Amino acid sequence: MDKIRAAVLGGTGLVGQRFIQLLDNHPYIEVVAITGFNSAGSRYGEAVSWTIEGDIPSWATDIIITRPEPDVLKKEGVELAFSALPSSVALDIEVNLVKNGIIVASNASPLRMEPDIPLLNGEVNHDHVVLVREQAKRGWKGVLLKNPNCSTAILTLFLKPLLDAYGIDKVLVTTLQAISGAGLRGLPAMFMVDNLIPYIAKEEWKIENESKKILGKLNNGKIENLEIDITSTTTRVPVIDGHTEVVYIKLANNHDHDIDDVVDTLSSYKSFPQEANLPTAPEAPIIVRKEEDRPQPRLDRLAGNGMSIVVGRLKIYNKNSDIWLRAVILGHNTIRGAAGAAILAYEIYKKYIDMGLIG
Ligand SMILES: NC(=O)c1ccc[n+]([C@@H]2O[C@H](COP(=O)([O-])OP(=O)(O)OC[C@H]3O[C@@H](n4cnc5c(N)ncnc54)[C@H](OP(=O)(O)O)[C@@H]3O)[C@@H](O)[C@H]2O)c1
Repeated sequence: MDKIRAAVLGGTGLVGQRFIQLLDNHPYIEVVAITGFNSAGSRYGEAVSWTIEGDIPSWATDIIITRPEPDVLKKEGVELAFSALPSSVALDIEVNLVKNGIIVASNASPLRMEPDIPLLNGEVNHDHVVLVREQAKRGWKGVLLKNPNCSTAILTLFLKPLLDAYGIDKVLVTTLQAISGAGLRGLPAMFMVDNLIPYIAKEEWKIENESKKILGKLNNGKIENLEIDITSTTTRVPVIDGHTEVVYIKLANNHDHDIDDVVDTLSSYKSFPQEANLPTAPEAPIIVRKEEDRPQPRLDRLAGNGMSIVVGRLKIYNKNSDIWLRAVILGHNTIRGAAGAAILAYEIYKKYIDMGLIG
């Protein structure tokens, strides 16, 4: 079987490098084009400042970086593009490709909240992919898939099984986000070593609002957002990869809550990507650690090839007859929170097509 010919848009950046790494040896996707801006015209192997573990896959080193233009990509037979473009330029470039018949799976924030754009976090809301049926009304020949903000992807994967099992009244979350979340040239060492930045622009809005769409229900082909009350504080810490989040959840008050039951609910959680055996799906999306000093970014971020989240410090508090669950959760921001999530989103889309659920 011929592989699907794909491009990585913004392939020299941190998320772009993850795409190149994760798509190495993919069973049915082959990267044949890489786009950039300052690096356009150069060999990928020379232009990229490779910053992630392992070597640049050999097939990528000789690819000449192009501009993300439909004609250029179509000459290479590209049908599918994974976007790691900065949000400031993504809208025009991605829509232009989709209008020209290319399927785009994107990390960038523009259009994430549009009603006809699936905001996919594989295990949480795979069924939202059918929203793409509405996109033809825009005159698009291709389709646009989005994946969530990185902290939101990690948080909603944790919330979903708890929501289904117990119901959730309220969520308070404080993030401790890695430097790589700000991109390759985002934050100089002078700002980050021996320091913590207690603010990340636009991040709290994304966590509080994207979660409502992702956890929403599909009803008659439309998403009904979940009116979940989430309050967040987002901070940047001197960790290279892996976002940690300290989460307090007020559980709905209609259950006896037992910590062993919570552990079982989380660690047994599986969904469509596991059932369909999708190539990028981790065997266990949620791994619960019982040691008091886990999860830790250096030890746990590559769990499930970076696609699992790791949960620890679970504790139930009874406060004035309210029941709160405390947890510390960790996920890999450029894998689960970015490139891996986008590849999984495309795998879901393809599986739905193969199953005849979208045309
Ligand atoms: N980092 C994360 O943890 C994370 C997580 C979730 C989502 N995201 C999102 O993913 C996207 C990429 O993030 P990143 O951290 O990988 O960024 P980055 O490291 O700054 O990389 C940006 C890439 O975009 C290219 N580029 C810049 N300006 C361009 C233009 N005008 N036209 C075409 N290409 C252009 C750059 O190419 P040249 O090098 O050739 O200039 C580079 O390859 C962003 O939208 C970000 O918000 C990031």
